[in-house]
Amino acid sequence: MNVLIRPAVDGDLAALATLETASFSVPWREAALRGHLEAPHTLSLLLFDGDDPVGYLLAGFLPPEGELYRVAVLPEARRRGYGRRLLETFFREAEKRDVYSLFLEVRESNEAAIALYRSVGFREIFLRENYYRDPTEAALVMTIGRPKETT
Ligand SMILES: CC(C)(COP(=O)(O)OP(=O)(O)OC[C@H]1O[C@@H](n2cnc3c(N)ncnc32)[C@H](O)[C@@H]1OP(=O)(O)O)[C@@H](O)C(=O)NCCC(=O)NCCS
Repeated sequence: MNVLIRPAVDGDLAALATLETASFSVPWREAALRGHLEAPHTLSLLLFDGDDPVGYLLAGFLPPEGELYRVAVLPEARRRGYGRRLLETFFREAEKRDVYSLFLEVRESNEAAIALYRSVGFREIFLRENYYRDPTEAALVMTIGRPKETT
């Protein structure tokens, strides 16, 4: 199958909202997604399997740091390497923007996401108690990267 990753644009809002609702217990609404698409220093990626949008990734950059906000793949398209491909594109985009350290938060019970993040090199740094709601849960904070090299 033909897989394509491209930047998400305003016209993708409805597709992003559908993916968001299919993936999270507390989804971002269209207004929040629009705010992200229009904000500076952000990255919004959409992954297509053929003609169908089946995955996306949202992140923000404040060089030399970056933060992953969302990565998700529709349930029926999981375990095909799409989550990893989105993260690899995120890493390349970070490098282009002189971003050397990446951070993320994930529900501590989210084994699939934690396994995905570990598989690409993220490591746990600490636990943020009572961070999420519906249900209330701690966030595991993970990072990958290196200090900026000085010459
Ligand atoms: C987390 C998520 C994005 C993974 O997407 P995916 O496309 O299925 O992941 P990949 O196929 O790229 O998996 C890459 C690796 O991650 C690990 N992994 C992914 N899903 C896993 C699972 N359910 N159980 C164990 N390991 C898993 C494996 O190491 C896998 O490699 P392998 O298939 O060769 O064993 C997907 O499960 C999802 O959308 N979950 C709901 C949304 C979410 O929780 N997002 C993260 C919080 S922002």
